Amino acid sequence: MDRSDAPEAMRDNARESAQAPRPEVPYPEYLTIESPYKQEVKRIKVDRWISEDYAKREVEQIWKRVWQVACREEEIPNVGDYIVYEIANLSFIVMHSAQDEYRAYWNSCPHRARKVADFDGHGVSELRCMYHGWSWNIDGSPKKITCAWDFPGGEGEFGLVEAKTGRWGGFVFINPDPNAEPLADFLGTMPEHYEKAGHDFSKRWKQVHVAAVLDCNWKIAQEAFLEPWHVVTTHPQFVFERNNDNPSDGRWDDFGNFMRGAPHLPTDRQEPKPGWAITSDDDQEVLDSYYERHLNMPPEIAAHPGVRPTQQIIENARALYRGIIGDKIDDYHDVELFGGHMASLFPNLHPWGAFSHICYRYRPYGTDPDRCIMEVMLLAAWPEDQPRPPAAKAHWLKPGETVADAPELGQLARIFTQDLGNVVHVQAGLKTNGLGHVMLAMHNETPVRHFHDLYEKWMGLADGE
Ligand code: FES
Ligand SMILES: [Fe+2]
Repeated sequence: MDRSDAPEAMRDNARESAQAPRPEVPYPEYLTIESPYKQEVKRIKVDRWISEDYAKREVEQIWKRVWQVACREEEIPNVGDYIVYEIANLSFIVMHSAQDEYRAYWNSCPHRARKVADFDGHGVSELRCMYHGWSWNIDGSPKKITCAWDFPGGEGEFGLVEAKTGRWGGFVFINPDPNAEPLADFLGTMPEHYEKAGHDFSKRWKQVHVAAVLDCNWKIAQEAFLEPWHVVTTHPQFVFERNNDNPSDGRWDDFGNFMRGAPHLPTDRQEPKPGWAITSDDDQEVLDSYYERHLNMPPEIAAHPGVRPTQQIIENARALYRGIIGDKIDDYHDVELFGGHMASLFPNLHPWGAFSHICYRYRPYGTDPDRCIMEVMLLAAWPEDQPRPPAAKAHWLKPGETVADAPELGQLARIFTQDLGNVVHVQAGLKTNGLGHVMLAMHNETPVRHFHDLYEKWMGLADGE
C-alpha cells in the first residue's frame, strides 16, 4: 500500500496516535549489529560497463554460477505453474513442480535445443517441445519421446537439464552451477537480519511489478540505487528536517554477499557534513517534501504545531500499518517506520528492509552492454486473516514510455524519473571519459565499492581492472 492510498480514517488515526502514549519499545537489536566495510577510494576502468567482452564474460563467470532470484513464489502459486526466467542470453523454466517444491530447467530441448517454453504457463501437466514433440512431466522427467527408437543409447539424456533451486523469504532462487554452494551458505546471515527485524518476506505479496528496458548497463542502473548521496542533487525537492538524522548519511554494514544500510546508532549521532542534505525549519515544507507533494495537491498531512515532522511521518506510517498488521505495529521502534533500510544482495537484488516495500532487480539485456532490464517490485504485507492477494503481473513499459506511465508506482514514479534521467548519460559519459576510469568515494559509495569488489572476485579481475 502506498502512503497516498491511506484512507482518510487512517490519516485521522495518525493524527490521534501522534498524541497517544505507547509503551517504550527498545531500539532494535539487529540494527546494532555492526560490520563496517573497508574505507578507501576505489578507481575502476570504464570497460566493465561498456565492453561486450565483459558482458559475455559475465555470463560465464557470474550468471552461470551465482545464486539469483528467478521469481516470487506467489507468481507460480499452484502446482503446474511456471515462469520463463531469462538472464543475459540464458533462459530457464522455473516450475512449481509439486506441493512445496520448485524446480528449474535449462530452457532448451535435449534434442536439438529449441527453447521448450516461449512464455509463462499455468496449471500445466506437461511441457512439450514445439519442434518434434518431445514432452516432459512437470518434474522434468521424459513423458513422451517421439521416435525414441531413433536414439539408441540416448535414453539417459531425454530428461530436461536441471538447475539448482533454493528459496528464501518467498523468493525462488536458481543457480545453473551443479557444484554451487548451498543457497543458505551464499546468503550467510542475511535471513537473520530480516527474521530478527520481524520482517518476514514470505509474508509479503508482490503488489506492484514494473519492468523497463533502459539504455544503460545493468550495473549502472543498479549503482543509481545503491547510494543515497545523489539525493541532494538528483532529487533536490527533498527537504529534510533540521537536527534530524540525516537521510543522506548512515552506516554500511558488510555481511558477505549482503550489504545493509542502516541508520546511525542513537548513541552515535553525527553532525551532518557540509553538503549532505537540504534542510528546512518549515515543518510543512519538510512534510510536503517527504510525501512528494505537487503544488496542485493538498498536503498529505498538515504540520501539527509542536510535533516534529519526523514524528508525524512515523505516526502516519504507524497508522497505515495498523490497518494491515493490527496492534503488532506497536512492537516496532520508530526507527523502523521512518524511510526504509537500503539492502543489496550480490549480484542484482535490493530487498530493502524495515517497512519499505521496495525490491529492485537488475538484469543485463542479452549481452548488450548498453542496455539492461530494471524491475521495481513493491512487496507488501497483507492482513494475516485474509488470503494472500494474487501477485501483480509485470507491467513492461513500452519503448518511449517512462516510469511516469506506471501510475501504480505512485510517488516513487516521480523519483525514478529523476534517477533514470542520469543513467543514460552515465553510460554515454563512460565512453567519452578522458581519465579512462571512475572514482568511488570511501564512505558515501561504500555499497557500490562492495558490489564491485565482489564483481571482481567472481569475474577474476584485478582491483579496478
Ligand atoms: S528440438 Fe525439441 S523435439 Fe526436436
Ligand atoms: Fe535516487
